[in-house]
Amino acid sequence: MRRLVYFIAATVDGFIAGPDGADPTGPDGFWPIPQDYIQHLVSEYPETLPAPARAALSVTAAGTRFDTVLEGRRTYEIGLRAGLTNAYPHLRHLVFSRTLGESPDPGVELVAGDPVATVRELKQADGKDIWLLGGGELAGALHAEIDQLVVKLAPLTIGAGIPLFSRQAAFDVHLWELTDHTVLDTGAVFLTYDRKATAPGS
Ligand SMILES: NC(=O)c1ccc[n+]([C@@H]2O[C@H](COP(=O)([O-])OP(=O)(O)OC[C@H]3O[C@@H](n4cnc5c(N)ncnc54)[C@H](OP(=O)(O)O)[C@@H]3O)[C@@H](O)[C@H]2O)c1
Repeated sequence: MRRLVYFIAATVDGFIAGPDGADPTGPDGFWPIPQDYIQHLVSEYPETLPAPARAALSVTAAGTRFDTVLEGRRTYEIGLRAGLTNAYPHLRHLVFSRTLGESPDPGVELVAGDPVATVRELKQADGKDIWLLGGGELAGALHAEIDQLVVKLAPLTIGAGIPLFSRQAAFDVHLWELTDHTVLDTGAVFLTYDRKATAPGS
């Protein structure tokens, strides 16, 4: 069965963005993106690069891992504000929102319903794995559905910001098994964790 994979960049202190909810890796961002990190994405996860980056890097590979991407409205709007209505035209692209009335792009499917029900339906269909892009609020709603975590741990701490799962997420313990890791020379670490089959105490 297809898996839901939360493939996410995080600081060592567990944040995915600063407190302002802006793009930390954008032109005014504080989050350095070293060359070996980009190269690792190009070689291992080319489908996770947004279309302008793929074009700039001459990446055309379909990738082997994901054919679908899910994002929350606030993450999607970061691209929208930059004039990008669909950053991932090479993937099936679903945006969760109860407030966006109409999709700004024919390639983007707006979903107003329950993300858990949508993910369970997607898992039943054939295809590659499903990439949960974020942000923290959507990931919090989908915590129990995540089958694999790929944390792109960045060598920085920021003290405050948006956590991996939103501050509103429920307390819900899950155990993970480290199944892969890559340490890059510039200090980023890609950590892959698969969900352990059993919950604690069961
Ligand atoms: N480090 C990384 O790799 C990475 C990746 C992605 C995002 N980010 C960062 O994450 C930040 C945004 O995260 P965020 O937590 O503020 O917001 P988010 O999860 O991107 O979006 C939240 C919105 O998604 C919709 N949503 C969430 N849960 C829902 C549910 N259960 N049912 C229906 N719709 C739901 C709602 O939209 P409506 O209000 O329209 O209903 C909600 O306001 C940005 O700063 C971004 O840069 C970082």
